[in-house]
Amino acid sequence: MKRRALAILAVLACKREQRTFTEPGPGARPVSAAPNLSLAPGGPPLPGMALDPALPGYAETAQAISFGKQLYTWSNCVGCHAHGGGAIGPPLMDAHWIYGSAPAEVATSIIAGRPMGMPSYRGKLAGTQLDRLVAYVRSLGGLVRGRAVLTGSPCVLCHAVAGTLAGGRLGPDLTHLASRATLGAGALPNTRGNLAGWLLDPQSVKPGAHMPATALAAADLHALLAYLEGLR
Ligand code: HEC
Ligand code: HEC
Repeated sequence: MKRRALAILAVLACKREQRTFTEPGPGARPVSAAPNLSLAPGGPPLPGMALDPALPGYAETAQAISFGKQLYTWSNCVGCHAHGGGAIGPPLMDAHWIYGSAPAEVATSIIAGRPMGMPSYRGKLAGTQLDRLVAYVRSLGGLVRGRAVLTGSPCVLCHAVAGTLAGGRLGPDLTHLASRATLGAGALPNTRGNLAGWLLDPQSVKPGAHMPATALAAADLHALLAYLEGLR
């Protein structure tokens, strides 16, 4: 069933792709998040898709996040990180991650600890508790929302991101986007500002690029950028 659904999606993708190609250039119409494609925010990935291969079973569901929020208080993360804004420990809700924002990287920060004062929680959290804490920490930084924005937009028709519904083939695979030095095959350095500029108006950055401009609410764009920057 799922396989067939993906096949249909692929066919739809081809149709859209043709339509896009008939109206290329600076006049390309902006696309906005297509509601009929959207998954519930933080909805489960398709069966067989691990969100992060290093954390099999990890899910960013609303339930996992709300459990994680309780664990965050019970484990006294609040004592050092406040409610995400940071204090003794760094903020967890800004776009800057010292040790990476991927689920496995956040899990490692918590379980192994980090040298400048992050204690190790090894042996203090039961199996699924770690997953839930990670989901909550990622939700603080807008990463869960960012993933939902991506999987709910036409991006998925043209781009693939491993572990998500996004399986498009027309544009480059974005699974390791943040590891690339440049965007648009060398068109410009891969910085947050350039990434935002690219999404908002690819044509002005690289005339002839076969990607439509993106129209997203500022908060969604912000979350999407944070998510994309975590794809290392
Ligand atoms: C005793 C204070 C303290 C407690 C308690 C604490 N942290 Fe930390 N945490 C820190 C400090 C300090 C750092 C920065 C470490 C470094 O830079 O090497 C940090 C780093 C982190 C990072 C990495 C951030 C990044 O930018 O990559 C994460 C994630 C994190 N903590 C999550 C948690 C969670 C979740 C809890 C509760 C289970 C917790 N911390 C409890 C002090 C604390
Ligand atoms: C109609 C297909 C299409 C859609 C929809 C689309 N893209 Fe693209 N995208 C492309 C193509 C094609 C390229 C390569 C352009 C080039 O380099 O000339 C690209 C390039 C990119 C790049 C630069 C990647 C790199 O490695 O240089 C990023 C980032 C990107 N797209 C993100 C997105 C996001 C996020 C969305 C949704 C908001 C999106 N795209 C929607 C087709 C699309």
